[in-house]
Amino acid sequence: MTLATTTKESKPSARIMFLKGLDDNGFVFYTNCESSKAEELSQNPQAAAVFWWPVLERQIRIEGSIDNLSDREADSYFKSRPRESSVGAWASQQSRVISSREVLEKRFRELGNIYKDREIPRPPYWLGYRLRPSSIEFWQRRPNRLHDRLRYRLVEGIRFAYLVYFVISIKLSRPSSISVTVIIPTRSR
Ligand SMILES: Cc1cc2nc3c(=O)[nH]c(=O)nc-3n(C[C@H](O)[C@H](O)[C@H](O)COP(=O)(O)O)c2cc1C
Repeated sequence: MTLATTTKESKPSARIMFLKGLDDNGFVFYTNCESSKAEELSQNPQAAAVFWWPVLERQIRIEGSIDNLSDREADSYFKSRPRESSVGAWASQQSRVISSREVLEKRFRELGNIYKDREIPRPPYWLGYRLRPSSIEFWQRRPNRLHDRLRYRLVEGIRFAYLVYFVISIKLSRPSSISVTVIIPTRSR
C-alpha cells in the first residue's frame, strides 16, 4: 500500500509499505520508529493509505488516525519473520544516510554472527502501527468514466452511523470530470 503522512507543518510524504494485518480496528504495518515516517506520525498521528489493483481496475483509499501496537503484538509479528529480515532490522538505520553499502553489509554480517544460534529480539525502535480508518473509499473503473465510488465514513456523534455515498462522475470534457454526490444514510447502530 502507499502510506502518506505529514509533518506538523503539513508537508506530505508517501512511500510503499507492506500491509501486515487487518482486523476490526484497522490496518497494521511495521516500521522503524526512528524513520522519517514514524517521526512524522509522532508529530501528526494521521495518515492515508491507497491500494491499486491495475488488473481489477480497483482502488481503495483509507484515511484515519494512527495508534501504536502493543509490544506484545509487535514481538509476536517480529518472531514470525525470517531470521535474515530480523537481522536486517537491527542492521538498518532506516531513513538515515550511510557512508556506503559496504558499511551496511558489514553490520549485517556482524550482527548475523552475534545472533547466530540465538533468538533475535525485536529492536526497541522497531514498532507496529495501526491505521484506524475514519473513511474508506472503494473505486471501481467503469465504462465512459462513469466510475463507482463508494465511500464509508465513520461519523462522529452518530457513533457507528455509516453513510454510503453514490458518486456519479459526469464527464464534461477530457480529461477533467466533476462528481455529483448523493448522500444516502444506510445503516446506523
Ligand atoms: C514493496 C515495498 C514494501 C515495503 N514495505 C515496508 C514496510 O513494511 N516497512 C517499512 O518500514 N518500509 C517498507 N518499505 C520501504 C519504504 O517504502 C520506505 O522506503 C522506508 O520505510 C523509509 O521511508 P521513510 O524514510 O519515509 O520513513 C517498502 C518498500 C517497498 C517498495
